[in-house]
Amino acid sequence: MGRKFIVGGNWKMNGTKAQICEILDFLKKGPLNSDTEVVVGAPTIYLQFTQENKPNNVAVAAQNCYKVPKGAFTGEISPAMLKDIGIEWVILGHSERRHIFCESDELIADKVKHALENGLKVIACVGETLDEREAGKTEEVVFRQTQAIKDKITDWNNVVIAYEPVWAIGTGKTATPEQAQEVHRNNVVIAYEPVWAIGTGKTATPEQAQEVHQSLRCWFESNVGPDIANCIRIQYGGSVTEKNCKELAGQPDIDGFLVGGASLKPEFVQIVNARG
Ligand code: G3H
Repeated sequence: MGRKFIVGGNWKMNGTKAQICEILDFLKKGPLNSDTEVVVGAPTIYLQFTQENKPNNVAVAAQNCYKVPKGAFTGEISPAMLKDIGIEWVILGHSERRHIFCESDELIADKVKHALENGLKVIACVGETLDEREAGKTEEVVFRQTQAIKDKITDWNNVVIAYEPVWAIGTGKTATPEQAQEVHRNNVVIAYEPVWAIGTGKTATPEQAQEVHQSLRCWFESNVGPDIANCIRIQYGGSVTEKNCKELAGQPDIDGFLVGGASLKPEFVQIVNARG
């Protein structure tokens, strides 16, 4: 089974209602390649507005959520709340969460686990800083960040528990194990985002990105299993633009992008259509 290309637009802490309408207008106009899955990450306060005004071929992601369903956690939101307003995806472990807000590997892994258990699809981000790359620690860092998630999701196949296809609920029709498995393998997306390439205009060369993506896939093969390694989608993020997206998209282990700055501009449509 081929891996469906997936492009995320992470708006970060940007936008007003008026600007979001402009973004949604260029997404509606597209046209967006129907073979590519498109997800936009809106600021929390605009999630519902974005959800209500987006085109059908675009899904909405939160940029963060907490690791428990409810309680005295001022300023946080839970997966249950996101589900309540129809949000399907969450971006977790973004480097800005890791580095500015000091989120640990363990906290991120707890969030991934709780989000999956509550039926959200997760874009889990990993990536090294420039210092770490220059110290030859790229693999060590991305493997450690991925391992932390694996430690909480001991059996990746167990995410099937949260799969509830509408056509199978109360109809007497059941998803075959293979159908359920196929969908759930698509519910976790790893985004490789070298910190030194985020918002800096410096992009990893296609070869640099491919090298890390391939290493990550090998890590999955050795540590999780060949089936998951073949199915898991690995996005690249870090100064992706309409100019460099096609060459990056041509790499065999790059299955999509997580785009920051360029996702606010009409050029995002070209990035969505990079493979096609
Ligand atoms: O989530 C997106 C990444 O942080 C990349 O951001 O495209 O502005 O470099 P950027």
